[in-house]
Amino acid sequence: MEINEARFVISNSDARRCPTPTLPEYAFIGRSNVGKSSLINMLCNHSHLAKVSGTPGKTQLINHFLINKNWYLVDLPGYGYAKVGKRLKATFTTIINHYLTQRSNLQCLFILIDSRLAPQKIDLEFMREMGKKQIPFTLIFTKADKLKPQALQDNIKHYADVMLQEWEEMPHFFISSSSHKTGKEEILQYIDELNAN
Ligand code: GTP
Ligand code: MG
Repeated sequence: MEINEARFVISNSDARRCPTPTLPEYAFIGRSNVGKSSLINMLCNHSHLAKVSGTPGKTQLINHFLINKNWYLVDLPGYGYAKVGKRLKATFTTIINHYLTQRSNLQCLFILIDSRLAPQKIDLEFMREMGKKQIPFTLIFTKADKLKPQALQDNIKHYADVMLQEWEEMPHFFISSSSHKTGKEEILQYIDELNAN
């Protein structure tokens, strides 16, 4: 699939004001600064659709984009970055929780993980929560360009080993680099297949 049209629809902090859930929806979440907005821009062939910044906490609202008039793509605020103040973190948690429990049309939540880091407690806890809420998720290891291929493979193998201590299998995952456009085809193809079901 190619994205021919990506149209910004609405930003808000209230899940009840999101678009009527009549189309399939895919959301991107992860720690602040992990690269959610950059990945969305890469998928959409658009350098400024979603706001990107080196300062964590850039995305502060639920942002809906209508893709090819056919499905929604959602950019969410990040969770759990130490440099984001306590109050902002709590606000993001509330926004995210409301969003995740209200969107009946959510087909898949993409959880982004920084490929350079060892498994972080906050991500593992977030996945555990998703398991409890029965929200299906897929992982995307971001910023792959920042590692040598062997180091990347080693990190992912280590991640899978840690996940397998509590999950029956490693969730489906992709590897991405927004600066090198890695993973774009695979992620869009995956969404296309889910849309067809
Ligand atoms: P918040 O909205 O603050 O939660 O952050 P975010 O997850 O949306 O991250 P964002 O896309 O704003 O990117 C954060 C920083 O990481 C920016 O400086 C990006 O340029 C950089 N970045 C994002 N993706 C990549 C990538 O694939 N490779 C490299 N090298 N840098 C990246
Ligand atoms: Mg963002």
